[in-house]
Amino acid sequence: MQTVETPKGMRYDEARQFLLVQGVVARQIPTHPLAARPKRNARAAAFDELSGNTTLGIHLSEIAPGGQKPGHRHVDEAVIYIVHGYGYSEMRQADEKEDQRVDWKAGDLVSIPANAWHKHYNLDEQKPCLQLAFKNTRLLRQLFGSRDFVYANDFRFHNRYDDEADYFELREDVGDGTVRTNVLANCAEQPLQDAPDAGEGVSAQKYVMGGHLMLEVSLVEISAGGYVRPHRHLAEEALYVLSGSGRTQLWQENGEARTIRWTAGDLICPPLNVWHQHVADGDAPARYLLIRNNFIERALGIDGKGFDTAIPDRFQTVIEPDGSE
Ligand SMILES: [Fe+2]
Repeated sequence: MQTVETPKGMRYDEARQFLLVQGVVARQIPTHPLAARPKRNARAAAFDELSGNTTLGIHLSEIAPGGQKPGHRHVDEAVIYIVHGYGYSEMRQADEKEDQRVDWKAGDLVSIPANAWHKHYNLDEQKPCLQLAFKNTRLLRQLFGSRDFVYANDFRFHNRYDDEADYFELREDVGDGTVRTNVLANCAEQPLQDAPDAGEGVSAQKYVMGGHLMLEVSLVEISAGGYVRPHRHLAEEALYVLSGSGRTQLWQENGEARTIRWTAGDLICPPLNVWHQHVADGDAPARYLLIRNNFIERALGIDGKGFDTAIPDRFQTVIEPDGSE
């Protein structure tokens, strides 16, 4: 058995080979402690258990200088943020197709289309690279009760990614302000749109990436002194702070409340269905990457509209097939 020194607030899961972080926030992802994960030839930490999450997987893993990770495919939806370093991924959907090479560097966000084959390479011979992956694996594992369904599944989602030559350069507006893209370069500099409905001084951009249906990706910026209005939702989410600083307030009707201070490099998971708001109280704007596993709201047809206002009132006045009450 491997012995791993676990820092306070963390535990090492021997079966999953993950250093797991407890609480609501993980601090300083770029310099976060990592533990060996032999099955992926990497050192890693996981933030799957933040805020009691069960459907949004978040994994931080390192690729050694000049190294690579074993190639594989999985049905789960994933996006990978490059925390530091540079390299490339090989990807393909159909077995008979050539791999496509997707180059990336620190600050980029890369989608892994469902069940596309992929393999990551670190091109820096001197330094490790660090990837922060967001995925819905745990949801699929729980729903289908089968590891093989996720990792050894012959179905190919050709409607999401069909080895198109321009797939990883694509960028198109798909209406309602959403952009479809599969690689988002330099998240810190991406143009955003005013989002007055979201709060005071908020700008944002929502993306569809990799054809994903459950994992929603947004970039959000709050101007200095601004805030994201109070809200709650039936979706687990994570905020990775790209720049600036601020605070997240959590509360519920019984009077319990917490305030979490954050700064660039922190990862915060507001708990499912708990009221929260984000305030940029530093002297510069705060920008964060927001990833949400929105499968419940999608299934209910209330994507992003929020639990309190959008869940339809299903109380029925008509009871009988003949229309009687
Ligand atoms: Fe939220």
